[in-house]
Amino acid sequence: MTIDTLSPTLDTPPAGALSSPAAQRNVEPILHALDSVVPETGKALEIASGTGEHVVRMADRFPALSWQPSDMDPTRIASIDAYVAAAGLPNLRPAIRIDATRHGWSAIHGGNDLIVVVNLLHLISADEADMVIEQAAKALNRGGRLAVYGPFRRNGKLTSDGDIRFDAELKTRDPLIGYKDDVEMTKMLHANWLELEKVVEMPANNLMFVAHRAN
Ligand SMILES: C[S@@+](CC[C@H](N)C(=O)[O-])C[C@H]1O[C@@H](n2cnc3c(N)ncnc32)[C@H](O)[C@@H]1O
Repeated sequence: MTIDTLSPTLDTPPAGALSSPAAQRNVEPILHALDSVVPETGKALEIASGTGEHVVRMADRFPALSWQPSDMDPTRIASIDAYVAAAGLPNLRPAIRIDATRHGWSAIHGGNDLIVVVNLLHLISADEADMVIEQAAKALNRGGRLAVYGPFRRNGKLTSDGDIRFDAELKTRDPLIGYKDDVEMTKMLHANWLELEKVVEMPANNLMFVAHRAN
């Protein structure tokens, strides 16, 4: 499979790289939403980078930022590194291991001007999601932005058949995980001194929350 649509810098998938159809589908809308969100310069950290297909495109699209991908899974880290090596972008670093649900990671990986989290929160429990947001807030510089993309309940409700099915599937895997609520998400951001700037409606009924660290 070619990945022309994934990265203008790559013609074929690098050896050892994973590819996700969902990441291929949503990368363009995510880049478009980030156009008005990324700071002019500085450090950007991606949490839960997955295959690495997103971060390679983000680093290419926003070259004035230095991009740090991360994940907690060694197979995903190897895939990210395969894309990073093949892309050869000067502003894209090899992946690091971060378990975003663990207390204290912000102390080691702080000083960021942008943190991007795509499609993680529905895969973890509410307490873990709270920890991700808390640590992300602490890992931002003052004024730094957090962008969180994914599927969410709207004021407690699942709003499409696909969402009802997917959330039920997740809960069968683990009753503690599943869609988080948009209202709870806003409260969680505020509780961590993050000022909500906007909630962007994204394709396939997803949302992108954009917030910044006020102080
Ligand atoms: C559905 S994938 C999304 C990957 C990528 N962001 C995307 O949208 O294509 C979820 C990713 O979250 C990672 N992940 C799961 N739990 C995590 C945690 N506690 N900390 C960091 N990454 C985690 C998984 O390894 C996986 O790569």
